[in-house]
Amino acid sequence: MSDTDDDAQQGTTAFELIGGEPAIHALVERFYDLMDLEPGYAALRATHGPDLASAREKLNWFLCGWMGGPQHYVERFGHPRLRARHMPFKIGIQERDQWLACMAQAMEEVQVHPALRERLQESFFQTADWMRNV
Ligand code: HEM
Repeated sequence: MSDTDDDAQQGTTAFELIGGEPAIHALVERFYDLMDLEPGYAALRATHGPDLASAREKLNWFLCGWMGGPQHYVERFGHPRLRARHMPFKIGIQERDQWLACMAQAMEEVQVHPALRERLQESFFQTADWMRNV
């Protein structure tokens, strides 16, 4: 068994590397806790409604599949169509950057391995940037 750096380079799924469903759940919980707590993410928080429970559940299901694990989100809702689903919310550079910073902080705090963090952050950037609609 090689170490995590080697695995990341050889394309093992991010789902396996991060530690499966419990690790993704912990990451998503921290992501939304930080969004709620940190003044630096206020513009991002403001795009959401008062209750983050459904967003927590959906991002958790989505990321499992997105990282190469079980397709919980697709089984429940079909194709993610993420850009279309985000159209009701104003997403500009500020919201994009706050989403990415919030996720980077969450990944660091739940101690995602640095090599994996870097790989995920690049993919998150592509997805978040494509979501801009203003
Ligand atoms: C770029 C900045 C982003 C903003 C401002 C944003 C904002 C939002 C908001 C307001 C919701 C609705 C939450 C609710 O149901 O109450 C949502 C849902 C969601 N977001 Fe984002 N989001 C962003 C980026 C992303 C990215 C990068 C991903 C994935 C990597 C993502 C994945 C999701 C998913 C899976 C849902 C649930 C969609 C559904 O089934 O309704 N979002 N987002």
